[in-house]
Amino acid sequence: MDKIKKIEELKEKRNAIILAHNYQRPEVQDVADFVGDSLGLAIEASKTDADVIVFCGVDFMAQSAKIINPDKIVLFPEPGAKCPMAAMVDADSLLKLKKEKKMNIVAYVNTSAEVKAVSDICCTSANAVKVVESMPDGVIFVPDENLGKYVKRFVKKEILIWPGFCPTHQAISSEDVIEEKKKHPDAVVMAHPECIEEVIDMADKVASTEGMVRYARERNAREFIVATEQGLCYRLSKEMPDKKFYCISHAVCPTMKRITLDSIIRSLENMQPEIVIDEEIINKARKPLTRMIELGRD
Ligand code: 13P
Ligand code: SF4
Repeated sequence: MDKIKKIEELKEKRNAIILAHNYQRPEVQDVADFVGDSLGLAIEASKTDADVIVFCGVDFMAQSAKIINPDKIVLFPEPGAKCPMAAMVDADSLLKLKKEKKMNIVAYVNTSAEVKAVSDICCTSANAVKVVESMPDGVIFVPDENLGKYVKRFVKKEILIWPGFCPTHQAISSEDVIEEKKKHPDAVVMAHPECIEEVIDMADKVASTEGMVRYARERNAREFIVATEQGLCYRLSKEMPDKKFYCISHAVCPTMKRITLDSIIRSLENMQPEIVIDEEIINKARKPLTRMIELGRD
């Protein structure tokens, strides 16, 4: 049977929805009920009345869906799809720093459930400035150094930044953008805040993946250079076929590409692999995630 038809049948049988991140493979985005950025996916997970969520993204995103919905089954078709940045900070070291500095912790959602459980509030690239602004005093910001530095441009309070990074975004250089600009001089440059400072400085717009979709929709321009993981270009081109989007060809997140139609089918057939998180961690991690969702976008 056709794979798409099979997924549709299984979804109905299980009362399941498929949530997919903007970096997922085109065919995975096409079968999803909702495609978005980390914040959009967390909000969507908080609203669903499905019994089962099939999460197509990376580990921390699927864990967030489970933390928000402890009574639902969250299937994560490829458990090896782990975000390397999220692995750059651990709860014990963070707790030690928190005790030493006596500062609140802002955890980028790209963190483990254990790190969220010791944090005061979460943020995504769509609301990091707003979240840090909402805190009464200075904060410890984990784990993305580039996003932390970007927030510092707007918020005049003490921000201690953890030295983590996204290998995919770190590898996008200003030369990559200059190269694209030479080929497409009229193109508008959009960049994700996980990019290095030199790339951010060249951007006409810095935004989360969903922020870039919205900007491209609203901006009266025909060509865009997209400094983020190249999966976003599929979504952009699909929704705006009259506009041209130029990605940085080497900007690929290998873990984001692990999930396939076959692994989605397998997970819905076997109801495995399922996200399982210790109840105490879930209860502690829900508070900073909910605080973030209540704040909304920048
Ligand atoms: P967004 O929240 O902007 O979609 O980003 C998630 C991510 O992992 C970026 O690398
Ligand atoms: Fe993690 Fe970077 Fe991949 Fe996003 S693109 S999931 S931050 S490794």
